[in-house]
Amino acid sequence: MIRIAPSILSADFARLGEEVRAIEAAGADLVHFDVMDNHYVPNLTIGPLVCEAIRPHVSIPIDVHLMVEPVDDLIPMFAKAGANMITFHPEASRHVDRTLQLIRDHGCKAGLVLNPATPAHWIDHVMDRLDMVLLMSVNPGFGGQRFIDATLPKLREVRQRLDQYKTISGREIWLEVDGGVKVDNIGEVVAAGADTLVAGSAVFGAPDSDGGYRTVMQALRAGAAKAG
Ligand code: DX5
Ligand code: ZN
Repeated sequence: MIRIAPSILSADFARLGEEVRAIEAAGADLVHFDVMDNHYVPNLTIGPLVCEAIRPHVSIPIDVHLMVEPVDDLIPMFAKAGANMITFHPEASRHVDRTLQLIRDHGCKAGLVLNPATPAHWIDHVMDRLDMVLLMSVNPGFGGQRFIDATLPKLREVRQRLDQYKTISGREIWLEVDGGVKVDNIGEVVAAGADTLVAGSAVFGAPDSDGGYRTVMQALRAGAAKAG
């Protein structure tokens, strides 16, 4: 099963409630919520208050991607604001295992985000605490960047590890990819092993006035299906 998670980073922030309702109506599986702190990444976005504000507008899960340092203080706040899954960058936490546990203790699914240059072995000793792994296919901080091709071999490697883990444990860990995913490359990304795809500018770049979000979502799914 392939999940598509439009990133609201590219949405119209002045009409956010309407925008998230529109992507749910267009068939989105998750709302991808990018949190930037102008410290871990050179940009500043939205926090728990905005998460709480959009929560009543959608019934699909909210996938919070924390690009912040430190991480832990924000976890209870996002859980309270209605987040369903929370991912963070391991370099931004002093105690990765503890942070993962903290997310789950607050009733959310937990995941690690690996930057393009972050080695895959960060997941090795915390597999039992992971519900998802998010591979960045751009450097975090901005929407609308180009997909970094070196993500594909890394994706295949992580896919293999997660499949091995599933054989042993019976537990499925989602594999999400974030950055530069478009209609014309989604097939390749899915073929390399992703099951959850973030798409920001690809979705919100299409004006919704004439059902544009639905058209893009369908094109993304059709592209993903071509992966075979
Ligand atoms: C980048 C964010 C992404 C971004 C993706 O730091 O984590 O979620 O919004 O945007 P696109 O799909 O435009 O690359
Ligand atoms: Zn993101």
